[in-house]
Amino acid sequence: MASLANRVVHHLKRRLIPPTTPVTALPALDMARVVDRGCCPYDGYQRGTGLAHGNLAEQVWNDPLFRKALAIARHTPVRTMCTEARLMNLFLLIKFFLKDLPSQNIVEYGTYRGGSALFMATLLKELYPGARIWALDTFEGMPEGKHGLDLPPPDDFAATNLNIIRFTAEQNGLDNVAFVKGLIQDTAEDVYKQAGSIALAHIDVVLHSAVVYAQDSVWNVMTPGGYIVYDDATEPTCPGATRAVEEMITKRNISLEQVYPHMVLRARMPHKAEIA
Ligand SMILES: C[S@@+](CC[C@H](N)C(=O)[O-])C[C@H]1O[C@@H](n2cnc3c(N)ncnc32)[C@H](O)[C@@H]1O
Repeated sequence: MASLANRVVHHLKRRLIPPTTPVTALPALDMARVVDRGCCPYDGYQRGTGLAHGNLAEQVWNDPLFRKALAIARHTPVRTMCTEARLMNLFLLIKFFLKDLPSQNIVEYGTYRGGSALFMATLLKELYPGARIWALDTFEGMPEGKHGLDLPPPDDFAATNLNIIRFTAEQNGLDNVAFVKGLIQDTAEDVYKQAGSIALAHIDVVLHSAVVYAQDSVWNVMTPGGYIVYDDATEPTCPGATRAVEEMITKRNISLEQVYPHMVLRARMPHKAEIA
């Protein structure tokens, strides 16, 4: 009972406190910042542990840009299935890590009602006005074609409306997002030609075959050090997505940079290197 009351007070306080201070830096760690097996454990630890155990989540919650993007992502006609912790990690990746890469373009596989795509578009618009995001989905529900490991999807994802998503983007001045309708297997190649290179791939397509297609096809257009972020792979309902990440790790001989609040791999990084 006491813990329920504490949770209610916590949520009420969070709702009533307006955003105040932008996050300007991440907590320093007593750990060498090196690249090892194609990722930077320091960076993953900094984000993941800060969000799970430190006060980084509170700091992000107080950031006006995070709250602006969150409000758009949670706007009722669009909204997102991504958890707040995962949106916070996307915020940290985009604000603090994409700036060090040669490109800041984003591709999202699996957009559904549009929430996470609009969230990232809002951040890009403010932080990197020259960058773009491509959001790929059938926008008419989950295609057929389960792998043996896939459970039946928790939803058919048919309750979406591309006109409403586009209208919401327009209303919020987000002219940096392109919604690309169709199977990702049919549309991604053209997106790669337009984008040139990708800094962050947000993979949220639930089933094994679609995750495999997304991660393999984007690999060669990822900017060195770019981020591949998996929304479903740690969901108990998506064992096919988990298996796809395992296959990626084996095939590329790389390690996960982060597992909480979602799995993150780095693309085309040297295997071992010192970071200044
Ligand atoms: C979990 S939802 C995405 C959630 C979304 N990112 C959000 O913010 O709420 C998964 C989406 O992936 C789409 N999808 C799955 N496989 C696909 C494929 N092969 N091609 C295109 N879209 C696909 C489904 O239609 C569904 O809308």
